[in-house]
Amino acid sequence: MKLKENIHYVGVNDRTKDLFEGLWPLPYGVSYNSYLIVDQKIGLIDTVDVNFFELYLDKIQAVIGERPIDYLIINHMEPDHSGSIGLIRKIYPNIRLVGNKKTLEMVEGYHNMSTANDLTVVEGDMLSLGSHQLHFSLIPMVHWPETMVTYESTEKLLFSGDAFGCFGALNGHFTDTNAEVDYYWEEMVRYYSNIVGKYGAPVQRALQKLEKLDIDMICSTHGPMWTQHIEKVIYTYDRLSRYDADCGAVVCYGSMYGNTQQMAESVARGLAEGGIERICVYDVSRTNLSFILKDIFKYRGLVLGSPTYNGKIYPQMEQLLNAIASRDMKNRIFGAFGSFTWAGQAVKTLKTFAETVHFDMVTEPVEMKQGFKAFDEKECVELGHSVATRLLSDSL
Ligand code: FEO
Repeated sequence: MKLKENIHYVGVNDRTKDLFEGLWPLPYGVSYNSYLIVDQKIGLIDTVDVNFFELYLDKIQAVIGERPIDYLIINHMEPDHSGSIGLIRKIYPNIRLVGNKKTLEMVEGYHNMSTANDLTVVEGDMLSLGSHQLHFSLIPMVHWPETMVTYESTEKLLFSGDAFGCFGALNGHFTDTNAEVDYYWEEMVRYYSNIVGKYGAPVQRALQKLEKLDIDMICSTHGPMWTQHIEKVIYTYDRLSRYDADCGAVVCYGSMYGNTQQMAESVARGLAEGGIERICVYDVSRTNLSFILKDIFKYRGLVLGSPTYNGKIYPQMEQLLNAIASRDMKNRIFGAFGSFTWAGQAVKTLKTFAETVHFDMVTEPVEMKQGFKAFDEKECVELGHSVATRLLSDSL
């Protein structure tokens, strides 16, 4: 697939992997993007998951035949992109790897190969392939410490590593030109919140660094190449990395016998009565964390509810709290509810959590002893009202 006269897409679709990083579901698959620039010298940018190597090599050789590759530019060392480096070097023994100091250390660590004759680059370095000039810029922690981007200044392509990436395989279209791309927006938020979400500050630093570039096409390691929607892609990453969110609320609950679930239903009703249009309700035992995190990044309101279990918070709720805290989530309007049968702990844990992550807790948690039948649900409806009022007043 030609992106420009001498710049080719040689990546692959993965429609069989169940869990990205062993954690995150891929209902629409994922693409591992790699690019080939053919000039006086040939440059390959990133590779693909090693399981796709045969197909990948076929794609490369369909473009360059028996010509050797001169450089492999490594923007990111996570094995979904770096997995084929060892095999590429076996096929092209004279290829020079191009990366920063940390990159080449990781190549040695992952592939057990010497990088003594490879090319170490630093911020601002340039490599000429002939008529194409590659400029390197480091964007540490988007998503690993070695991550960098490569800007090709003749055609104005930004090879951005994981930055601006999204889940979802490429369905015939490689770029967003004349393509329906609606489903990628949700998958972009899910990708960001699951994979990159912890690194808001480094993403902000990277965006400031890239601001001055004149970009015709963003070529990320995952998802389509962006040409028509560049502004929206950058805007989306900018908002997500500032933890900025839309007016809406996510209600998550754990429930063993349906009593705490009924509390969640009442909270959601209170939110709706309070004027909130976008409300998501999730059972933390039944909806994968990946999708819950996506909506927590999307919406400003968050209400969590849990029963007390073994004297602690419900295990799946604990997992969600850890996932939120480890992403340094900020700026959320928060409410909490919970239940117990003989000794309460869940709401205490939720309150401590809110204090620890500096969420704006609109009112004291609502606590229920034993079953919903003997409980006055008005307390939960009012919790929903309170969160709604704060959300709407903050949106003005
Ligand atoms: Fe797509 Fe951080 O690797």
